[in-house]
Amino acid sequence: MPKITFLPVNQTFEVSEGETILDVAINNDVPLQHACGGFCACTTCHVYVKSGGQSLSPMEEDEIERIASVYEKKPESRLGCQTKVMSGDVVVEIVNVDA
Ligand code: FES
Repeated sequence: MPKITFLPVNQTFEVSEGETILDVAINNDVPLQHACGGFCACTTCHVYVKSGGQSLSPMEEDEIERIASVYEKKPESRLGCQTKVMSGDVVVEIVNVDA
């Protein structure tokens, strides 16, 4: 089973293939915000992929358009609610940490 590590909280969890980063966070009380409820309408679930990007689902049009408006956007930016873990281990950094 692939694993995902959330920084800076440094928590690691096993992931079922196809689970979104946001689903894993919600199921494990990781402080990843999701103001729109996971509908690709807010960007509060923004993460930076630190490693394992090849193990994630590719960006689709909605995510590309939404993330283009993010101020702190980097090449490794993804939206947690739109990004599925498909295989292999992943490390992501939460951008909007409120803990
Ligand atoms: Fe709003 Fe992901 S939760 S865009």
